[in-house]
Amino acid sequence: MQKIYISDLAKYVGQEITIQGWLYNKRSSGKLRFLVLRDGSGYLQCVYFKGNVTPEVFDLCDKIGQESAIEVTGKVKAEPRAVGGYELDATHLNVLHETHDYPITPKDHGIEFLMDNRHLWLRSSRQVAIMKIRHRIVKAIRDFFDNKGFTLMDAPILTPAACEGTSTLFETEYFDLGKAYLTQSGQLYAEAGALALGKVYTFGPTFRAEKSKTRRHLTEFWMVEPEVAFADLNDDMDLAEEFLEYIVQSVLTDRAEELKTLERDTTKLQCVKRPFPRISYDEAVEILKKNGVEFEYGNDLGAADETIVSNQFDRPVMVHRYPSEVKAFYMKRDPENPKLALAVDVLAPEGYGEIIGGSQREDDFDLLLSRIKEHNLPQAAFEWYLDLRRFGSVPHAGFGLGLERTVTWICGLDHLRETIPFPRMIYRNTP
Ligand code: 4AD
Ligand code: MG
Repeated sequence: MQKIYISDLAKYVGQEITIQGWLYNKRSSGKLRFLVLRDGSGYLQCVYFKGNVTPEVFDLCDKIGQESAIEVTGKVKAEPRAVGGYELDATHLNVLHETHDYPITPKDHGIEFLMDNRHLWLRSSRQVAIMKIRHRIVKAIRDFFDNKGFTLMDAPILTPAACEGTSTLFETEYFDLGKAYLTQSGQLYAEAGALALGKVYTFGPTFRAEKSKTRRHLTEFWMVEPEVAFADLNDDMDLAEEFLEYIVQSVLTDRAEELKTLERDTTKLQCVKRPFPRISYDEAVEILKKNGVEFEYGNDLGAADETIVSNQFDRPVMVHRYPSEVKAFYMKRDPENPKLALAVDVLAPEGYGEIIGGSQREDDFDLLLSRIKEHNLPQAAFEWYLDLRRFGSVPHAGFGLGLERTVTWICGLDHLRETIPFPRMIYRNTP
């Protein structure tokens, strides 16, 4: 018998086939047993009619529990009313692993219980949909940069120094060489890459010892970081908006079914088209004041502030030129106002907040060195980075997009924890 996947059913209408998978759900009615099978590629209702199968098979239908591993055989029928549009007129059932008392049932479970059982929770239709969208986003990210002539150049995970401030570093002993830190960002290495290859991106896990217990912070998350030589802040913003449009439109085109499973309002995503609004930090502060927020000029925007600002727009908004005090040491100052950094944060609509942080980099040796000193960073650990300003220094810019925040927004979820297979947060590092 031909073994196929549910996603290929369309090619087998009227034929006898076999599918291996797990029992997702079942119900019975008189002489009929309905087994819903899932195989990772989709869902299929298998109909067992008492007159068509042996008594043993019919009894097995009653006996096996949710998540039993099974092999079904039968004839494929087009059935517009069924999940996926097909149904199996089943003739055989082979039980590969009989399961009873699967802990996650169709009833409601508390979030802590689900998180403790994340390894099983991943099998639910909602989690499968999120993982498929995450994968599609990863592919869009890679395709976008690959098609534009960027080279993927991965950065190390174990690093000798901080990139995004010293307060969120995970530290470990590194043999005789003292301390090493889990990377917060691949950016500094991406800069070396941009000066070698012109246009590069890093894409990997990054780590922040975030003590905050919020819905948008993980301690381990994935970040993609493009870096471009001979680029300024405007080029950086052009790249970011083209990139986000491409990601969102790719998911809309290829993952419509999964967005439906998540009941995502896709009209909101359809708006994500260039050009995106670009406002300065000063203009963002004006918006906050008009909305009655007591905001102290010079502070960074908090989550609540970002929501108010982004709610003014139907697509992502780019906020540029933040006070340099609240931004990282490597950002170039605005020549027209040295109190401002040539930074940009992209805020997602619908209250999702910052998904991208980027900037033009300080390319002047003396200025960069004085920043390193001002920030009390260990100069020795940054000598290699300073070399990039000693030899062939050019204007360059880049940004980092947080994968999980992007998945959260596109899927319309209210917490980051469902967007990564095994989330790491301040109070959770299992399973
Ligand atoms: O704004 P951040 O800190 O920027 C950087 O790390 C730069 N070095 C990037 C660059 O210019 N190459 O982080 C970038 C993005 C944020 O906008 C957010 O989407 C995500 O990374 N992010 C987090 N996501 C989940 N949990 C956390 N704790 C995150 N911290 C940052
Ligand atoms: Mg940021």
